[in-house]
Amino acid sequence: MENIGPETYGELNADVYDEWHAGLDPTDAVRRLVELIEEGPEGPVLELAVGTGRVTIPLAAEGVDLWGIDASEAMVARMRAKPGGERIPVTIGDMADVEPETDARFAMVFVVFSTFFFLMTQDEQVRCFANVARRLLPGGRFVLECPMPDVARYGRNQTVETQQVGLHHVRLVAVRHDPVEQRFDGHHVLISNEGIRLAPASMRYAWPSELDLMARLAGLERRERWGGWRGEPFRAEGNYVTVYEKPRPTLP
Ligand SMILES: C[S@@+](CC[C@H](N)C(=O)[O-])C[C@H]1O[C@@H](n2cnc3c(N)ncnc32)[C@H](O)[C@@H]1O
Repeated sequence: MENIGPETYGELNADVYDEWHAGLDPTDAVRRLVELIEEGPEGPVLELAVGTGRVTIPLAAEGVDLWGIDASEAMVARMRAKPGGERIPVTIGDMADVEPETDARFAMVFVVFSTFFFLMTQDEQVRCFANVARRLLPGGRFVLECPMPDVARYGRNQTVETQQVGLHHVRLVAVRHDPVEQRFDGHHVLISNEGIRLAPASMRYAWPSELDLMARLAGLERRERWGGWRGEPFRAEGNYVTVYEKPRPTLP
């Protein structure tokens, strides 16, 4: 898709994001993130791409010193309008750069849902890993929730799926797949009696082995890979969670 920037998704989806993702319960993610924070080094925590605060707000309510980055003013405005959301410091910027408005180094950096794949090129994803590693304390973790790429859905490198049917509307997802660049470019298409509403989303997916290589290039070591936030076995399907760690310096 042409003319797409880091802010595009948020600016064009902010008004429907919470409604369309109301079924995503952050409870397990928050519980697991708190456990990981408790066993890691002391320090602040940074979320990449906070969005409307789906995970950010309940995690900050647990007493975590939480900072955020997001590219979209419109998404962050939604978060700031919610109780507790206005207290979380969020920098508007590109998560590939990892430049929060503090010089602190972080005990943990995390990115949830499918959001890491919103970095549209392999270069940006590699840069993000390197910048996260630079900002982590020794022993600090980079936690990613990512969907396992399901390319079988895209016969002939495209698909149209019906996601929701109501009495007065239907919601479709129309996607094209580029297997070389590992990209999905698509739209949620809401058709109702009022007209047609398009909500674009593009992603550059990476396989688990590619994430591990990006981590290795950044000097991070893989500690865990679970099939979900409850620590389920990894079965290469659905959304899974990986924990990378910045090694502590070894004593001479
Ligand atoms: C699917 S939403 C996820 C929001 C939130 N983390 C959640 O789980 O509900 C994706 C978010 O990523 C943000 N985003 C997309 N590309 C970005 C980039 N390059 N840098 C920072 N934020 C970005 C969007 O503005 C949007 O808020």
